[in-house]
Amino acid sequence: MTQPPAITTAHVACIMDGNGRWAKRRGLPRTEGHTAGEEALANVVRVAAKRDIGWLTVFGFSTENWVRPPSEVRHILGLHRKLFGRVEELNANNVRVNWIGRPFDEPGSRTPRAVQQAIAKAIEDTKHNTGMVLTVAFDYGSRVEITRAARRIATDRAPFDLASMTARLYDPSLPPVDLLIRTSGESRISNFLLWQAAAARVYFTDCSWPDFGAPQLDEALSLLTSRRA
Ligand code: FPP
Repeated sequence: MTQPPAITTAHVACIMDGNGRWAKRRGLPRTEGHTAGEEALANVVRVAAKRDIGWLTVFGFSTENWVRPPSEVRHILGLHRKLFGRVEELNANNVRVNWIGRPFDEPGSRTPRAVQQAIAKAIEDTKHNTGMVLTVAFDYGSRVEITRAARRIATDRAPFDLASMTARLYDPSLPPVDLLIRTSGESRISNFLLWQAAAARVYFTDCSWPDFGAPQLDEALSLLTSRRA
């Protein structure tokens, strides 16, 4: 069977904020907000795969998030395993899983083995898909990524230029971000894809991440179709 042609258009990145406040407003524990956030993400992936989106990159867990209470961290890690386990629907939507973050074998990496395995398995099980690339940033921080790239240039005795830096990011194949979305009323970039999103349009919305769906994604995407420069 011939595969559909690869879509290589917009790169959309999401800072999925507001899970905790969403839960608090409903008198629920924060963990319920994250559970709803994972479901919202699964829905956004399904919707995005049908739009003109070639790359969807989401901020799943930052290098700063480890300081949260251990029970909350455990819960969020479990949700990552749940997301990476959605192989059947990812394959049904022709979505290829990808990951960026501190490499597991490098100093400072804190990704537990179970999450490492879930990431590796999802990448392997979806590697033949030719549609949208879903990149999950886990144990990710942009300044650490950029500093590491600079250090690798020095080690490699490579020229200090834009191409050398880009080639030494966690995933040099990630194209520049066209649209950066942040939910829940915060208008900050929070150390996410600072290099890749240098020329991105930015869409801030008051909508909490668990409530973010097709209408909100389409409104954000209209920023791209209004004028592409
Ligand atoms: C922000 O909510 C979100 C996170 C800390 C990241 C975790 C994201 C999810 C669990 C969504 C599903 C994603 C994956 C990849 C499984 P917050 O706790 O900062 O919300 P608050 O600002 O309202 O407290």
